[in-house]
Amino acid sequence: MGYLLAVETSCDDTSIAVLDRDGIVRSSVVSSQLAAHAPFGGVVPEIASREHLRNIIPVLDAALKEAGIDMREVKATASTMGPGLLGSLLVGFSFAKTTAHALKVPFYGVNHIEAHLLSPWIENRSLPFPALVLVVSGGHSHIFYAEKEGSYLLVSATRDDAAGEAFDKVGKKLGLPYPQGPLVDKIARTGDSKAYKYTMPRMKKGFDFSFSGLKTSFVDKLGKSGLTPPVFDENNVPGWMADMLASFEKAVVDHLIDRTERAVNIFKARSLALAGGVAANTLLRQRFAELAGNYRLPFSVPPLKYCTDNAAMVGFSALSRWRSWAPTELERDAFPTAAWKRAEMKESK
Ligand code: KG4
Ligand code: ZN
Repeated sequence: MGYLLAVETSCDDTSIAVLDRDGIVRSSVVSSQLAAHAPFGGVVPEIASREHLRNIIPVLDAALKEAGIDMREVKATASTMGPGLLGSLLVGFSFAKTTAHALKVPFYGVNHIEAHLLSPWIENRSLPFPALVLVVSGGHSHIFYAEKEGSYLLVSATRDDAAGEAFDKVGKKLGLPYPQGPLVDKIARTGDSKAYKYTMPRMKKGFDFSFSGLKTSFVDKLGKSGLTPPVFDENNVPGWMADMLASFEKAVVDHLIDRTERAVNIFKARSLALAGGVAANTLLRQRFAELAGNYRLPFSVPPLKYCTDNAAMVGFSALSRWRSWAPTELERDAFPTAAWKRAEMKESK
């Protein structure tokens, strides 16, 4: 029947997936670079691209093996084209283009944010369009009005940090090792989210996000507390740190849900979807489900493996083009940033 080989290397995860023509994910292998970046407390772009080069062939072998296919059965390739770290993007992008050229099969370049945006449909094909999709990752915080696959209007973007970035930076302040977001989630579960009060970002109208004020407020509260974070020990986190993280997490999630709810009231979408690395956050998943329930809207949140960066979502995003549209020309280049068409909006509040 022929398979699509999809590649994702936009940041610090080397991932390759095999999908069939119906979009069933036959394998999705992710090799994390955690150990390589951990000593630096965050992603080092130069190290990331070198690690992708080292990992990509073993990840390919594992993905083919898990899918039970060999290269002759690959009838198309796809790769993230941007946005992302250019040096990292180029590894997977060049690899997928070269493979397509060698196998004489079509290649499809994929927008990383679109891949996240469509990930809630991988296991929930019947979710109706138009949909409002909250895409929250380490580099992006967006709400999109998705009219249908391939047609998106940007409702909301962040004016400063991304939500994941805010979790990472705040975690780092408390001495948490990289990646801080999942640890913030874990520790926050044991804390009191009412312990510290946050004022919501002041923009009264519109849908844009801003996290820098919340972050500054966190640093301020930490300074005023006079408390010093101990050397991090996952099994022995002080209660005050759990309270601080739980309160900060609540503030970020309140802000994300508030903006999404505003958008729900203006854009008459038929469903809601949540995507991106921060969609793995326990509190956000709960609150998003509650929001959808309050408005009686069907919703989809992908399983954790499709929230953080993965090639399955890249392949899924290329599928309809593989079926019916022209491939991406091999002369095209990767791109570090992406622009979106803004939705026209009038808010009455
Ligand atoms: O989508 P992703 O894997 O990479 C980007 O495209 O950025 O998102 C990674 C981001 C990081 O900031 C990470 O800390 C955050 O998602 N993240 C989380 C959780 N899991 C990952 N943030 C909060 N709670 C989590 N459980
Ligand atoms: Zn991502």
